[in-house]
Amino acid sequence: MKTVLVTGGAGFIGSVVSRELLSKDYRVVCVDNFTDDLYDPALKEDNVKRLSGNTNFILYRTDICNFGELGDVFKKENPQFVVHLAARANTRKAVEEPRSYIDVNIGGTLNILELSKEHGVANIVIASSSSVYGNSTNMPLNENDPADRALSPYGMSKRADEILAFTYHHNFKMNITCLRYFNAYGENNRPDLVPYIWGNLILDGGEIEVSGDGSRSRDYTYVGDIADGTIKAMEKPLGFEVINLGNHRPVSLKELVTVFEVVTGLQAKVKSRPSNKASVETTYADITKAKKLLDWEPTTPIEEGIEKLITWLRDNRLKNIV
Ligand SMILES: NC(=O)c1ccc[n+]([C@@H]2O[C@H](COP(=O)([O-])OP(=O)(O)OC[C@H]3O[C@@H](n4cnc5c(N)ncnc54)[C@H](O)[C@@H]3O)[C@@H](O)[C@H]2O)c1
Repeated sequence: MKTVLVTGGAGFIGSVVSRELLSKDYRVVCVDNFTDDLYDPALKEDNVKRLSGNTNFILYRTDICNFGELGDVFKKENPQFVVHLAARANTRKAVEEPRSYIDVNIGGTLNILELSKEHGVANIVIASSSSVYGNSTNMPLNENDPADRALSPYGMSKRADEILAFTYHHNFKMNITCLRYFNAYGENNRPDLVPYIWGNLILDGGEIEVSGDGSRSRDYTYVGDIADGTIKAMEKPLGFEVINLGNHRPVSLKELVTVFEVVTGLQAKVKSRPSNKASVETTYADITKAKKLLDWEPTTPIEEGIEKLITWLRDNRLKNIV
């Protein structure tokens, strides 16, 4: 049985990746500090509770910035693979708190790379983001496009991670794949993201806020598809690669409102709000490279994924968890 160290494994994407890894008979070592910085850690506790029934799931409440403690986990668990997802992950907050974004996202990644080198990890997957593209108008966004005009220190930190990772590949021949995730949504959704906020408000009869005229679009990608691509990348060492994982079918905010209405059978109350400067206009992934190198493509249409999100919201709201 192979061991995968998943950082951020209690979070949104990490808990779904961990669930899928366990179903594929991997041993999962989750490292997460359960920070309350973006949302209520009770959600993370609930995510790990669902995983903890499996004896192949091992949890460390450890901060990736603590090199000593993280080193103890590597020494004890000796992982073959690392899936590095822990990060501070909110674009707008990063504009207000750049220092801590750089400390956690770049400093933490440096710790992961150093320890992976020391312990001879066979392959590392690092979560990057579509944010690295900034407001590029070259659609769909391709991995060869310039990525030096991020709009927020968050996107900058993700691009810095990719560049730092390349130096480890170059100097130490390490296998590292950086995945640029595009707008994940689905069960265990992060509460600070639009699909969660809107789903919750629509179920409650509240008013949702649409930025600008609603024409902004996002390549919303179902989290199960993201997890599938992440595991494919982990199972296939490629030297060094940067690969987009997106749905390749952007939907405008206006269209997303309609999807929610159809799925819930409820009419959304909508009000307009000004657009945020750190938010990009469009995300739209070119996924040619993911298809070619990972044999991956998304299989979940937005209507089906939003249905899963709504089901999860309904189930958990009944238990007062979210
Ligand atoms: N959700 C998206 O649409 C999206 C898009 C692009 C990239 N990403 C990236 O994917 C990764 C996972 O994002 P997510 O949406 O699941 O966010 P999340 O906040 O739900 O998950 C991140 C997890 O990392 C943990 N963490 C944060 N700082 C830590 C630290 N110092 N030490 C240990 N653990 C720490 C948090 O407690 C959390 O459980 C992040 O790297 C994020 O930047 C996400």
